[in-house]
Amino acid sequence: MTLKLDYKKPSLKGNIQVPGDKSISHRSIMFGAMASGKTTIEGFLLGADCLSTISCFRKLGVDIDLNGEVVTINSKGAEGWKEPSEVLDAGNSGTTTRLMLGLLAATNFHTVIAGDESIAKRPMKRIVDPLRQMGADIRGRQNGQFTPLAIQGTKLSAINYTLPVASAQVKSAILLAALYANGVTQIEERVATRDHTEIMLSHFGVDIKRENTAIRLEGGQKLTASHVKVPGDISSAAFMLGAALITKNSEVRLQNVGINPTRTGILDVVKQMGADLELIEMDTEGERSAELIIRSSDLKGVEISGALIPRLIDEIPVIALIATQCHGTTVIRDAEELRVKETDRISAVVAELSKMGADITATEDGMIINGPTPLVGAEMQTYGDHRLGMMAAVASLVTEGHVLIDDPDCIAVSYPGFIEHLNSLLR
Ligand code: S3P
Repeated sequence: MTLKLDYKKPSLKGNIQVPGDKSISHRSIMFGAMASGKTTIEGFLLGADCLSTISCFRKLGVDIDLNGEVVTINSKGAEGWKEPSEVLDAGNSGTTTRLMLGLLAATNFHTVIAGDESIAKRPMKRIVDPLRQMGADIRGRQNGQFTPLAIQGTKLSAINYTLPVASAQVKSAILLAALYANGVTQIEERVATRDHTEIMLSHFGVDIKRENTAIRLEGGQKLTASHVKVPGDISSAAFMLGAALITKNSEVRLQNVGINPTRTGILDVVKQMGADLELIEMDTEGERSAELIIRSSDLKGVEISGALIPRLIDEIPVIALIATQCHGTTVIRDAEELRVKETDRISAVVAELSKMGADITATEDGMIINGPTPLVGAEMQTYGDHRLGMMAAVASLVTEGHVLIDDPDCIAVSYPGFIEHLNSLLR
């Protein structure tokens, strides 16, 4: 159903606790299912993607209880998982599909994993190739490039692998398979990507070491059931932050936002743009978190490229929107991975912001945005991509005229209650 937003250029004031981190929530279910005993999770993201992960593990026979944002997992460890009689449905979730491949490859049974239309177009060979090098038996369309994928679990061996793409999903799938493989696996990561898997494996008692760009893990280690605290998702906070920055006379506080340095590229970028942003640190160990205070700001264009890209890859739709309100030119380079996200986010962001009157041009590996431009209401398409939906909603705060969003329901993939949160800030 189409959503009509007709905001009349409001100011935003108030406090928001954004929902739990998507990457950490997925991993908390997976690791709880891998550990023998009772794992509890607080602050879990009840987004559609993470619910897909829960449904996959339930089909493997793992007992998972949901009580609001508190999750309790009782597992006998991976040895206790059972061959499912149905296809595992990853929905829209790349993280579910890719990380689970690493785990399913090492079982002693057969599984099939598939997802929605978007998942069926996303590249899986980047996962299947290294897993095959470990001995995995995985089949699928175009020699394992696309879902549905059929996996016959088997014994795996450790590998030395240099990541050809900067992807935490590839790194994590290999690390999870490595836990059940013979020998020591070493992964070479030329550009740092989010390290939630490494942090959480340590938290579950696994000995995992990083030396410069190399990560090492010995197979055969058991996970110890644990308690996980999930901080708010900086990728969700980014939309509220963007909203506060581009509207007039706004001040928004975002509580308990995860500030793992592998994820805070957006904070570096908006500071460089000239944002009025304060950070009050809360948790300083493991997954760090902070309260963010953001005020309306006069912003200037910046260049974004290189090692910064993996630290803000999911934030580029909102960064592009912010850039339309910056003085000068913003250039985003080295972001070709955007082409294989939930949708081709270079084409989609450029097409949708152009409809609103933005001066934005697509390049092979990014985009160029000139600002500031006044934006006008338009009929916006989400392409079923939650972040495109949120970008359109935030943009509507500054448009002359109303905005229509074709499929607002997709926002619940990562931020259920997003529109309600935004409305609660209106002044
Ligand atoms: C994720 C890693 C990133 C990110 C995705 C979540 C993760 O994907 O874009 O939203 O949880 O590991 P890539 O690994 O493909 O870069």
